[in-house]
Amino acid sequence: MLTLEKTHDEARQGEAFAPFSEDPNQYSRHFYIESYGCQMNFADSEVVASILQEKGFGATRDVEKANLILLNTCSIREKAEQTVRKRLTEFKKLKKQQKGLLIGVLGCMAERLKSKLLEEEKLVDLVVGPDAYRTLPQLIEEAGTGQKAVNVLLSRDETYADISPVRIDSNGVSAYVSIMRGCNNMCSFCVVPFTRGRERSRDDRSILKECQDLFDQGYREATLLGQNVDSYHFTPETGGDAVNFAQLLEQVAKISPLLRVRFSTSHPKDITDEVLHTMARNKNICRYIHLPVQSGSTRVLQLMNRTYTREWYKAKVERIWEILPDCSITSDIISGFCTETEEDHQETLDIMRFSRYDFSYMFFYSERPGTLAQRRYADDIPESVKKERLQQIVHLQNELSLASNKKDIGKVFEVLIEGNSKRDENAWMGRSSQNKVIIFPKTLEGLQPGDYVHVKVEQCSQATLLGNIVSTI
Ligand code: SAH
Ligand code: SF4
Ligand code: F3S
Repeated sequence: MLTLEKTHDEARQGEAFAPFSEDPNQYSRHFYIESYGCQMNFADSEVVASILQEKGFGATRDVEKANLILLNTCSIREKAEQTVRKRLTEFKKLKKQQKGLLIGVLGCMAERLKSKLLEEEKLVDLVVGPDAYRTLPQLIEEAGTGQKAVNVLLSRDETYADISPVRIDSNGVSAYVSIMRGCNNMCSFCVVPFTRGRERSRDDRSILKECQDLFDQGYREATLLGQNVDSYHFTPETGGDAVNFAQLLEQVAKISPLLRVRFSTSHPKDITDEVLHTMARNKNICRYIHLPVQSGSTRVLQLMNRTYTREWYKAKVERIWEILPDCSITSDIISGFCTETEEDHQETLDIMRFSRYDFSYMFFYSERPGTLAQRRYADDIPESVKKERLQQIVHLQNELSLASNKKDIGKVFEVLIEGNSKRDENAWMGRSSQNKVIIFPKTLEGLQPGDYVHVKVEQCSQATLLGNIVSTI
């Protein structure tokens, strides 16, 4: 069994998130929702919760109390889909016990498989794609009368801009804010352009309002989300100037110096000097860039349709260090893509060492139906080789993470407190601007989640820094 760092879809898989309504008794019907996949899916579940609550559905964490079970699903790798299928089979058993229970699949798997889940496999009652959540209430009514309830239409303009997400399982300190949907990039391995449709940007005014509201409610960190945030581009219909990502970032940062701003994901081809300079000017934009490399070999990158070379990527990393010397860089890496040789693999290890990633999400290649790679290239690397290479990648990343953490010993960081340490309620857990987790004892009275403190790092493991408060802010 391979031990991997947590991945996008595996990190939170199996954890069920259900929003709590203010008064569960005011609702006659209840829904239960589980989310899988990337942060965008978690943000979407908060939109879904808002739409359902508006229509009189209260949230429950108890599956047995639910009239409606929803799974917001991911298709990125085969394993992600298998997990959901297993879960659906478990829920199908519940259906026999609970009369009138409806089961729905949302998200990327719904989009990819469409009515197949409903017709061939009879696992679910409703299938709703990522752009069709506004029609959920109507589809629930239809499914309730035994009709086939499917809406997987993708949209060119849906951004759910006017919907205030109901924060699910929130720590009250950090929240996701979706700034765009879809992806136009067509990386050859990736199913996302097919499941999420064309790229579109959300109105900057609605983004700013959501961030301001979060701040007013006591939140202290907003993570701006998109598959490719650097291509954010909003043109107001009423005329006026278009807004790009750097400008949006600056506007959000100006809400308050006490609001930390993060963003994910940056495609290396699109992150601009303007964005880096905007970060440098605004200390509350976190020193953290997720810059997925995928492979260190120019030949493989070309097959992946990533549109940059190894040298171009390295130059981008150097540019980040030049403008933001204390910036943390993290990555996504795929082992065993079509035709990958041992030499290509060594180039991946080499670019990891060069970039000194603080953290990476690491995967072995999983062929996805309908993608460019599936149509054009043979999935020709044996699974044992993919896994062996992945293990080497994971091993190297562990070394890099430890080395990076060791360098922090003796330094003082500004830390935003998120809550209690999981292992010790007499200690706080917070993060540095670089997104590193720091644990430190509660030596000062009167602090609470959402407060900032200066913490001096004394010790570390590969995953965590340990320190002591030196002053408040
Ligand atoms: N938009 C983001 C990534 C979204 S998917 C970006 O461009 O970086 C998250 C990660 O899953 C990808 O970066 C990639 O490393 C991985 N991934 C995507 N498709 C995959 C596949 N078919 N097999 C294995 N990993 C995959
Ligand atoms: Fe997939 Fe590439 Fe788009 Fe990321 S940028 S979602 S990897 S197609
Ligand atoms: Fe998965 Fe869809 Fe996100 S495929 S990674 S949930 S966009």
